Amino acid sequence: MSGVTSPGSDPARPAAARIYDYLLGGKDNYAVDRAAADRVLAVAPDQRRLARANRAFAIRAVRVLAAAGLRQFIDLGTGFPTSPSVHEAARQSDPSASAVYVDYDPVVHVHNAALLARDDQVVSVQADIRQPGVILGHPDVARLIDFSQPVGVLCVAVLHLVPDAEDPGGIVAQFRDRMCAGSCLVLSQFASDSDPEAMAELRAVAAGTAVETYFRPRSQIRRFFDGFELLEPGLTDVQEWRQDSVTAPTRLKIAGAVGRKP
Ligand SMILES: C[S@@+](CC[C@H](N)C(=O)[O-])C[C@H]1O[C@@H](n2cnc3c(N)ncnc32)[C@H](O)[C@@H]1O
Repeated sequence: MSGVTSPGSDPARPAAARIYDYLLGGKDNYAVDRAAADRVLAVAPDQRRLARANRAFAIRAVRVLAAAGLRQFIDLGTGFPTSPSVHEAARQSDPSASAVYVDYDPVVHVHNAALLARDDQVVSVQADIRQPGVILGHPDVARLIDFSQPVGVLCVAVLHLVPDAEDPGGIVAQFRDRMCAGSCLVLSQFASDSDPEAMAELRAVAAGTAVETYFRPRSQIRRFFDGFELLEPGLTDVQEWRQDSVTAPTRLKIAGAVGRKP
């Protein structure tokens, strides 16, 4: 496995969770994260809007799944706490809904443990999604998730941090194979039909760091859903998924969809 196993503890290097927090207007970020994000914002000033749209997509998807009866969620690559969080959104349908928050960043893990995991149906786990077996075998996952019942697995804005050499499709497939019929996958990631100049700048900023970003063609993103049937409207820009109001396109694009295991 390449890359650092636990980025986030080094304030001298940018971290995905902190950059995303900065874009969303949070305070859990350092100068190095703001400098990296500002360089991309200079060529893609709509990136804050894209980050908010991505977050809103995840929450809309959870609400749809919770309304359809799903009451347990695993959020892979959670990021710092934002409101509403996954379990807050799910509990609008079922107050007993449970959630496992997974992130490899130790600082994110501690924040999520303190701010999200406030009852025994919500837990924060520090783990690397590139090791699905560790997550699926984790005692907290075993305690909260009943894989004989439908589960919602979120893989939102995290797979583009995993290179093809580390088999992102295989990661998703290991979760899929544990999920029973009726379970759902919520996934989004940067798409390679983004504006070339903005993509080049983001790649340049991220090169050689733990936020190295892999833009993928929509056909490849679609294949992450192998073994799932896509809910309407299929794979779209995140701001378009089940959104009535029309929003202007962004220079960088994140494609997302929700798939149901038949
Ligand atoms: C851009 S944030 C996305 C947060 C949230 N999923 C959302 O979309 O609103 C990506 C998060 O994934 C985490 N992450 C990146 N690679 C990871 C890995 N291999 N295993 C676990 N977490 C990872 C980062 O620490 C960060 O918190």
